[in-house]
Amino acid sequence: MSTPEHARPIDTTAPLVLGVESSCDETGVALVTLNALTGAPLLVGQALHTQVAMHAAYGGVVPELASRDHIRRVVPLLRQALAEAQRDLADVDAIAYTAGPGLAGALLVGSAFAEALAFALGKPVMPVHHLEGHLLSPLLAAEPPQFPFVALLVSGGHTQLMHVTGVGHYELLGETLDDAAGEAFDKTAKLLGLGYPGGPALAKLADTADPALVAEIKLPRPMLHSGDLEFSFAGLKTAVLTRVKAAEAEGGLTDVGRVALAAAVQEAISDVLVAKCVQALKQTGLSRLVVAGGVGANRHLRASLVKACERRKAEVYFPELSLCTDNGAMIALAGLLRLVSGSPPKMAGGFSVKPRWPLIDA
Ligand code: KG4
Ligand code: ZN
Repeated sequence: MSTPEHARPIDTTAPLVLGVESSCDETGVALVTLNALTGAPLLVGQALHTQVAMHAAYGGVVPELASRDHIRRVVPLLRQALAEAQRDLADVDAIAYTAGPGLAGALLVGSAFAEALAFALGKPVMPVHHLEGHLLSPLLAAEPPQFPFVALLVSGGHTQLMHVTGVGHYELLGETLDDAAGEAFDKTAKLLGLGYPGGPALAKLADTADPALVAEIKLPRPMLHSGDLEFSFAGLKTAVLTRVKAAEAEGGLTDVGRVALAAAVQEAISDVLVAKCVQALKQTGLSRLVVAGGVGANRHLRASLVKACERRKAEVYFPELSLCTDNGAMIALAGLLRLVSGSPPKMAGGFSVKPRWPLIDA
């Protein structure tokens, strides 16, 4: 981090929590404490390794390769995060790690590492729900939201709207019945011949589209008028497949056509997400919206949500762009906030991971 030391008022008596993320294809290690002046959470060191280049050759995440790479990366990343924070392992008060949901083998690496380290240091552990990490990550931003808020969680595997009244107090308002928004980006990107990871590739292409051509493409907005807060994105993927096949029958998609279709997909996904967020704000009577998870990095979605919230005089909060996708900071943060809000840490010892784990049970 480039923040100068004098600008980071660190309270050395505040708890220092180490976070370890390894649920999918990113190994993240970070240290979070509290700002001595404001009491707000403060990220003091972080290190991240993304496996994107390794999995790209296979067109998606290969779970066994992911686990093995987490093993290789986690210790050097820990050293890097400690060096950046200018702290020692002895300074760490608790170790938070992603216990689920995610890939079982990948989760086991982070969990075994964190539990073993905590056992050796005689420190407690905080098993963290990956989505809770995403959900709380905007609290590390320069202007964090106050509770209560509506949270839109949009990651590769989840699309959920939550009513959040405090740390650990999450009520599910609605979720996807089939594909997640991130999955819709990734699957349609694949249909358009874009590489893995599809979401960012599709978004990059969409940014160069001619709006007039995009307007000519009519894609479905699934469940836009369903009257509830559920989502469904599988039909959108089918609509794109139909268009791609039709284009193939006539010689294949042109470059211009591919760009326009990418932008139309991005618009369709955004339109549904924005409409459901607005409905969730209305339904709960809240005026704060928090967006978290990888799809929250999408610039078109961000701009559309900002506009929609302005119209409603609501506030919208996003994590820092670098904290939208998986990272150790959000896991350290969730551990720290759980710790300071009275959740009892557990002593290191036996552990289990939960590849499937609803957030409302966390
Ligand atoms: O939260 P995340 O990093 O991992 C999970 O917990 O799943 O989210 C990954 C998802 C992927 O589907 C990826 O394609 C999508 O987030 N994503 C994006 C963008 N950046 C990441 N989707 C659309 N636009 C982006 N800029
Ligand atoms: Zn994630």
